Amino acid sequence: MTQTATHAAGDRYVLVGGMPRDYRREMVVVAAEGSWLTLADGRRLLDLHGQHMCLAIGHRHPALVAALHQAIDGVHYAAADFLTHDARSAAARLLIEQTLEGRDHYGAVRFVCSGSEATEMALMLARLYTQRPVVVSRDLGFHGWTAGAAAATGVAWRRNALIAPGQTQVRQVPGPHTPYPAAPAPLCASCPLGRTYPACRDAQGTLACVNATESVLRSVGVEQVAAFITELWHGAGAFLVPDEYPAQIRALTQRLGVLWIDDEAIGGPARTGSWWAFQNYGVRPDIVTMAKGISNAAVPVGACAVSPDIASFVDGSWWTHSSTFSGHPLAAAAVVATLQVILDEDLVQRAVRLGDAVSARLAALAAAHACVSGFTGRGLLWGLELVRDPRSGARWVPADRRYSPATDGLPRMNPSRYVSAACAERGVLLVPYAPNTVTLAPALTIGEGDLWHGIDVLDECLTELDRRMGD
Ligand SMILES: Cc1ncc(COP(=O)(O)O)c(C=O)c1O
Repeated sequence: MTQTATHAAGDRYVLVGGMPRDYRREMVVVAAEGSWLTLADGRRLLDLHGQHMCLAIGHRHPALVAALHQAIDGVHYAAADFLTHDARSAAARLLIEQTLEGRDHYGAVRFVCSGSEATEMALMLARLYTQRPVVVSRDLGFHGWTAGAAAATGVAWRRNALIAPGQTQVRQVPGPHTPYPAAPAPLCASCPLGRTYPACRDAQGTLACVNATESVLRSVGVEQVAAFITELWHGAGAFLVPDEYPAQIRALTQRLGVLWIDDEAIGGPARTGSWWAFQNYGVRPDIVTMAKGISNAAVPVGACAVSPDIASFVDGSWWTHSSTFSGHPLAAAAVVATLQVILDEDLVQRAVRLGDAVSARLAALAAAHACVSGFTGRGLLWGLELVRDPRSGARWVPADRRYSPATDGLPRMNPSRYVSAACAERGVLLVPYAPNTVTLAPALTIGEGDLWHGIDVLDECLTELDRRMGD
């Protein structure tokens, strides 16, 4: 039996989430090296998708492979709550000292197994520390699939049955089993408040979405609010916040005495040209969640870093959090190796340098293609906005970031799916997130020749989409 035939038979045993089996475009990967994947049918694909922004240092980086081999030869497991080991301590120390600017700013890290769990941990710690029940999130936010994380997710269709109305097992209002109140997301390309940037700023320069966030916090009652949670790169929406936003959110939350949780599952490590996206703006959230790229996704891991005050509060408290795999030796070894490669190869600076060049290339694409209305991003994380009619700005999928195939039905044309399919035919892997946005998130180690080749292919596919304008 060929590998593909084996796969086709075997995959029926796997429950895969997200979409009906027949709609999925499935490819069988048999090997991966650097920025290249090899498929069972022999085709090679250049990975500009970066595996859901997880791929910091490329597939099978030799230093990571060696570290994992060594970890396999060492202690496989040590009970997380009363035994410690060098890898866990080293991973926490590297995160704090090298990536989070030291213990004056972040006191300690708690390891978990995924980004969703990192969100849960942040919500739990914020509520414990403040003794307040509510967390305010944003209407286009995505923070994971577990109950608390899904409750903090603003895009309705990205929440799930754990918190869907009627499925709720524990009724607390507001609480972790009901969606948290939502403030408007700072999506300037399609503002939820119907405003236009930068005209949306008031006389003091405050953004309309920040003022609206203050109204939401006040209407809930500030003394009830433990924290406000953000992402600075909206993964689910594929856009970057306006430059003023992070400092204004920091000032607002400090003024109102509310903690700020920043979800950096996608923003780092190093992806936007700083270790974490918030560092681009000279601000510091009270709680930072991390996942995906911290282990290069070689081993599942998430982490939650907290301010020194929260760390000493937790160190002095009884709190119930038992997680069998917190700081697992293999995961910790993967974190240490990944962060060390980013340091040794100076990948933060590389993301800055390549980011400038990518920005120039995308500006040229936007000028050349009627179907591209703009682009947003930093470092090696970019989104290209697609329109059906450049004059009116009409989109192929009007609901855009709120569009759900489950409730809205399949559109006649889903442009990001169309472009990613055309790219895949030409050997370049992109994965559609928001229907009107093409997202690029290659490994920070991608060869420059490969990167420009990938963007050339994207250029060709956008020409194809130009021909479909108005469809
Ligand atoms: C911003 C953000 N937070 C949290 C998560 C959840 O992470 P995980 O899938 O590892 O649970 C994701 C996943 O895509 C994410 O993009």
